[in-house]
Amino acid sequence: MTILVTGGAGYIGSHTCVELLNAGYEIVVVDNLYNASVKSLDRVKELANKDFPFYEADIRDKDAMRKIFAENKIDAVIHFAGLKAVGESTRKPLEYYDNNIGGTLALCEVMREAGCKKIVFSSSATVYGMNNISPLKEDMKTGGTTNPYGTTKYMIEIILEDLQKADPEWSVTLLRYFNPIGAHKSGRIGENPNGIPNNLMPYITQVAIGKLPFLSVYGNDYDTPDGTGARDYIHVVDLALGHVKAVEKILSSESAVNIYNLGTGIGYSVLDIIKAFNKAYGKEIPYKIVERRPGDIATCYADASKAYDELGWKAERDIEEMCEDSWRWQSQNPNGFDD
Ligand code: NAD
Ligand code: UFG
Repeated sequence: MTILVTGGAGYIGSHTCVELLNAGYEIVVVDNLYNASVKSLDRVKELANKDFPFYEADIRDKDAMRKIFAENKIDAVIHFAGLKAVGESTRKPLEYYDNNIGGTLALCEVMREAGCKKIVFSSSATVYGMNNISPLKEDMKTGGTTNPYGTTKYMIEIILEDLQKADPEWSVTLLRYFNPIGAHKSGRIGENPNGIPNNLMPYITQVAIGKLPFLSVYGNDYDTPDGTGARDYIHVVDLALGHVKAVEKILSSESAVNIYNLGTGIGYSVLDIIKAFNKAYGKEIPYKIVERRPGDIATCYADASKAYDELGWKAERDIEEMCEDSWRWQSQNPNGFDD
């Protein structure tokens, strides 16, 4: 079976490509390299010891996408391609709606023309908005997103659900990720953010490597055990394995819309993460408590039982392993894929 991976050169995509290849799938990757290096795909090939076609193309370019479907028999698509920076999305809403929503519409149109109607989509816990209480469950009301990025995820979920409703031949799996961190054990692939990172773990690793002077902890007056924000951090390899399970199911079962949280079900605070990271690092990273970051919620973690019950998937890697693997990647590749 052949899986088209959009955005396969990126952080989660590259790890998923490795696990798909290890599980015996053929893959085809399309990525416009806007936020990735082609070197990540060379390393995927090296890690899995397998080759695959790569198309450098934008998913909004329908002719380029048609060519991919004409040249390959695609059984299902995992759709990672998109822009993902929350802060940037508030400054560039048109670019986010165009890329994320326009890209998904173009992809689905070409899939329909090619008769490939199985899609696994990268959604996010952000679709639960500000008002649901953790643990978050798939049947809770979504919406109330607070930034254009989150709104694109919410809208794309609705678009894909409407598509399946209109044409029941479609199979749609919406995977709501919590907070992916960590890297492949080899230290060969990992997260490689452009500029100053927004997310906690890449920020911490860049402080540890000496690129940034200290971590700002955004608020210690939340209603959490130590006052800092709590999140459900999930190892990117566990997340990748969740995609393999989702693909297995979408290829073998009746058409439907299925929604799964991919998280561990545990909320760790910022201070918990600093402590776990320091253990892996062998030193202490400097940090300062500063004001809350606008738009942050106190606590966000998954009820991950549905993915276990229906996909037979659960996250296996603990927070220490996540920190060790994040640090290995950063310390072995201080300049990401440029090393
Ligand atoms: P990433 O930026 O590393 O990967 C996205 C990839 O898509 C990049 O390689 C980029 O070059 C490519 N891309 C972007 N627009 C494209 C286009 N129009 N055509 C072709 N390629 C395009 O991000 P990631 O962390 O690997 O995230 C993958 C997906 O998961 C994204 O959709 C993201 O929104 C979603 N997600 C990520 C997180 C997270 O915290 N990392 C959380 C929830 C959901
Ligand atoms: N934090 C800091 N300092 C930093 C960065 C983050 O204290 O420099 C704190 C945040 O306040 C929050 C926690 O660390 O409490 C995690 O923050 P991240 O930015 O790493 O992650 P978020 O939970 O804010 O957002 C992530 C993804 C979004 C996704 C959301 C919900 O970045 O794309 O999870 O799934 F929408």
